[in-house]
Amino acid sequence: MVRKKLNKKNNRKAKIIIDETTYEFPIYNSTEGEAVIDISKLHAEANIFTYDPGFTSTASCESKITYIDGDKGILRYRGYDIEELAKKSDFIEVVNLLIYGDLPNKEQLTKYKRLITRHTLLHEQIINFFQGFRRDAHPMAMMVGVMGALSSFYQDTLNINDSHQRQEATRRIIAKSATIGAMAYKYSLGQAFVSPRNNLSFSENFLYMCFSNTAENYKVSPVLAKAMDTILILHADHEQNASTSTVRLAGSSGANPFACIAAGVSSLWGPAHGGANQAALEMLEEIGSSKNIKKYIAKAKNKKDPFKLMGFGHRVYKNYDPRAKILKSICLKVLKHVGVKNDPILKLAMDLEKIALNDKYFKEKRLYPNVDFYSGIILRAIGFPPEMFTVIFAIARTAGWTAQWTEMIEDPIQKIGRPRQLYTGKRVIKYGVGRSSKNTR
Ligand code: SDX
Repeated sequence: MVRKKLNKKNNRKAKIIIDETTYEFPIYNSTEGEAVIDISKLHAEANIFTYDPGFTSTASCESKITYIDGDKGILRYRGYDIEELAKKSDFIEVVNLLIYGDLPNKEQLTKYKRLITRHTLLHEQIINFFQGFRRDAHPMAMMVGVMGALSSFYQDTLNINDSHQRQEATRRIIAKSATIGAMAYKYSLGQAFVSPRNNLSFSENFLYMCFSNTAENYKVSPVLAKAMDTILILHADHEQNASTSTVRLAGSSGANPFACIAAGVSSLWGPAHGGANQAALEMLEEIGSSKNIKKYIAKAKNKKDPFKLMGFGHRVYKNYDPRAKILKSICLKVLKHVGVKNDPILKLAMDLEKIALNDKYFKEKRLYPNVDFYSGIILRAIGFPPEMFTVIFAIARTAGWTAQWTEMIEDPIQKIGRPRQLYTGKRVIKYGVGRSSKNTR
């Protein structure tokens, strides 16, 4: 087992002294980045837990998929720098890389694209399922609901112990996520659903399903399709972020893949995570003009004010998020292509970034633009409303979620995730004693 090999190479030990007793724990080297202390035997040996809210110091699993160096602003999928993948790959090649571990050859890629394309259609009953949503439902609400519902339609790929079924479920989730996302958009517009076109690439097809309608022919622009594809690549995986950890935790109980991915979509929706792209654009619209930036920076620094600069700061990056850098450059290309010479929102975003990066508070806390800061400006220029931004993040992240879920299922030491707690509630109390006398709840 890899774990034992790593341990042999490493003679370092961690010692924890509790009262008078010393406990020793092995340290494992990462291929790159921080080593880890294996404290899995701590409770059995010392009858004590570790406490780490938000998992700021905890590695929850071993993984070979994605590497981040937060200080240097490096992101790699399976060893490849994100900048190179964004330039040279397309989204489906990156999906294949994330899931299978290395870049596919030409034949493998053609075959994989065909397999994914075969799954773009949805079961006809799902159309009825959509009719149950309110027209003004957030498209992420539809993503969560319909993704979970896939487990009732595709019952032949629910056996997580069958490798063939796992791979087929993965392809279904990735292919169908784009169709579900486009349907959610069409439903909110009150327009008819558009069937997928399997002669188009993944990104072209997604744009086609969103923007064509029965009255007009929509020709997919290669510039916008390339921008869309790059956005999908950049959002495809990001090691053990909140939604991926949610997928792993849900999957650790043996839940089916569609249910696990629906859990990931739910986690992604929050404004501190994938929902920040919608929130960032709405924030820029609220700020309105560069002359108001100082006021909003002051709000972001005020501990009594819940306002935060959306699209800024990151748990891991203490440097510029490399994805934000790429997105900033795509922004300019897309705006030029759609004929926007001077987008006031882009100018505002760049002014805000400049002021924040030179501000003492943001410098000291090492807060930089993250992936969600510029993506919304591009997606808006392509034609999407803010509610669709997180949906597009979710479509991209199905790649990482399924790759990480597969890795977890195939890990021989995988067991159900079950954290413990620091209990600070009441000790045993006799029934009825201390019954509330207030009527405030
Ligand atoms: C994503 O984890 C991933 O990999 C996620 C992601 C992915 O690809 O999966 O990269 C995608 O989720 C990007 C992040 C999107 N979220 C936002 O843009 C929302 C705004 N940012 C933050 O709320 C915050 O920075 C987080 C949630 C991203 C990170 O939270 P942490 O690591 O728990 O850090 P923290 O909130 O404890 O912040 C540290 C300090 C705090 O001040 P102090 O209490 O130490 O005085 O920095 C301050 C924070 O108040 N701070 C900010 C800020 N972000 C952090 N202050 C103002 N504006 C901000 N945006």
